[in-house]
Amino acid sequence: MTLAPAELRSLALDVLKENDQGTYTVPTKGLYPFQWNWDSCLTALGQSHYDEARAWTEIETLFEHQWPDGMVPHIVFHVYSDGYFPGPDVWATGRPTATSGITQPPVAGFAVKRLYDRAKDRALATERVRKLLPKIDAWHRWFYEMRDPHGEGLVAILHPWESGRDNSIDWDEAFERVPTDGVEPYTRRDTQHADPAHRPTKEQYDRYLWLVQHFRSLGWDNSKLHDASPFQVIDPGFNAILIRSCADLAVLAHELDEMDIANANRARAEDGLAALETLWSDEDGQYLCRDRITGALIQNASIGGILPVFAPVPSERAYEIARTIERWATDVRYLVPSENPHDPRFEAKRYWRGPAWLVMNYMIADGLNASGEGTVASQIIRSSLDLITQSGFAEYYDPISGDPCGGGRFTWTAAMVIEFLDQGAS
Ligand code: DGY
Repeated sequence: MTLAPAELRSLALDVLKENDQGTYTVPTKGLYPFQWNWDSCLTALGQSHYDEARAWTEIETLFEHQWPDGMVPHIVFHVYSDGYFPGPDVWATGRPTATSGITQPPVAGFAVKRLYDRAKDRALATERVRKLLPKIDAWHRWFYEMRDPHGEGLVAILHPWESGRDNSIDWDEAFERVPTDGVEPYTRRDTQHADPAHRPTKEQYDRYLWLVQHFRSLGWDNSKLHDASPFQVIDPGFNAILIRSCADLAVLAHELDEMDIANANRARAEDGLAALETLWSDEDGQYLCRDRITGALIQNASIGGILPVFAPVPSERAYEIARTIERWATDVRYLVPSENPHDPRFEAKRYWRGPAWLVMNYMIADGLNASGEGTVASQIIRSSLDLITQSGFAEYYDPISGDPCGGGRFTWTAAMVIEFLDQGAS
């Protein structure tokens, strides 16, 4: 069965509207009852197709909770809910409105440029973007100051949750260094909303919590966290999002005659792109993570090394990445699995250890299209819409069976469907 584009769009709109809290949108009711950073930025893209002002508000609300040092937190706890763990009391960041103390993939620069470029209301877009520009610039500056203290051009994540790819195989080895002694007793909530077999393990949760407690004990002072963290990983996907956002912000700032912001972000993007090359693996036909503590590349081919095609990487890299996706496609029915399906550690239903995610598909397809790899991009978009028709608006999907996994009625999945349809997919 296939659904007509108009029907798909209308179902997607229902999901976006039912999760809309007025000035921000929850990723899904129950499992994630607050505002999440990169969820919101990507959600705004979907919202812009039916309400441009609402889309700008989604991103503005997030930035109202930016920290004085420039960091934009990964969760804003706007309202009380005991349905999610770890809640504000565990983070204890002392912010006026409670927030978490870590960040998430900085996709805001990209999202804001896309909103601006296609805005029908030009005056509104110019007014809203002018206010966001310095805030996004401050976030980018924060990354290079706090997460790249030796000026390598690449930033480190200090907690797997920052990557957005919480339980990726990429983190397994480095995570061994994170102890679990002294973790306060806790009750997980995620496994009450979603099938535990689709979620991270208890052992991983203990380590997630140890890091939160450790950073909390340092007063969430970002000038101390990097060196004090036993987990410092350079994720090519995360860096590619930052590089793309810097490059996009530079163009946007140039257009609005904000030359300091334009020049600073262009330089960040150029340095980042040059440094990204140190993560390329000819053998894998993709980029790899690097453990900053050991200095070694992490020998695992995950979607984190495919995602750099979203940044303006050299065309030969985009070409190789497209071929890698084609190889992966021989083992799965739906693209793009979050882990190389040939790897024995691949798990088709467990969160970021195999499942396909529409947000990843969107960013990868965007990069492939820009690099002349439109055939693979179309295959990815086709897979995305087939998954929706088969299994609804899930958080993620088993790339072999297409089964829905994690939470249901998921906001960013719906937002990406609207984006794909807007690009003419059907
Ligand atoms: C979770 O709780 O699963 C999130 O990914 C952390 O933000």
